[in-house]
Amino acid sequence: MLKYKIVYSSHTGNTRGLATAIYQGLPAHAKDIEELSEDTRWDDAETYLVGFWTDKGNCPPEVQEYLEKLTDKRVALFGTCGFGGDEAYYKKIEDRVKKIISPDNEYLGCFLCQGKMPMAVRERYQKMMKDEKQKAEAQRQIQNFDRALLHPDTQDYNNAMIFVRRVCE
Ligand SMILES: Cc1cc2nc3c(=O)[nH]c(=O)nc-3n(C[C@H](O)[C@H](O)[C@H](O)COP(=O)(O)O)c2cc1C
Repeated sequence: MLKYKIVYSSHTGNTRGLATAIYQGLPAHAKDIEELSEDTRWDDAETYLVGFWTDKGNCPPEVQEYLEKLTDKRVALFGTCGFGGDEAYYKKIEDRVKKIISPDNEYLGCFLCQGKMPMAVRERYQKMMKDEKQKAEAQRQIQNFDRALLHPDTQDYNNAMIFVRRVCE
């Protein structure tokens, strides 16, 4: 039986980077890291660290299905999202995803940070800028997009390692 298992879903690579940092932050016990697939087991470790990218304000459906399978485990969450620097937003995502975890597991906490979005998203906001009614909102979204460009960064990786050391003592 593994002591720790990291299972993650990553669409464009941000969450994969975070998962790697978290793996490095874990104590040197029996540990494993795996990108979520249909073959991923949910019964071979004591503690699961489940990573997700944010899709429509939640974790993607395959992560939801995986979390539903975990029973009698210690479970921590981590993830990346396009909107950043807002603790209240992070908390909303955490609360939504945490609800999926069955109460017979021990919930350890959640680490979230911002992650770069595809350039097509910025292009959409740039089109919105042409519409006077949408201009202010588009400007706000472009500012957020540009802030996200360099995330996750070294500080995010360090914070993720601090988180994992704290919850997996
Ligand atoms: C289809 C799609 C939907 C998204 N929905 C959200 C969302 O609802 N909220 C959010 O904060 N970010 C959203 N994002 C941004 C991603 O969650 C963010 O860029 C994340 O870091 C991607 O992680 P990955 O590189 O591991 O796939 C979305 C991105 C895509 C491509």
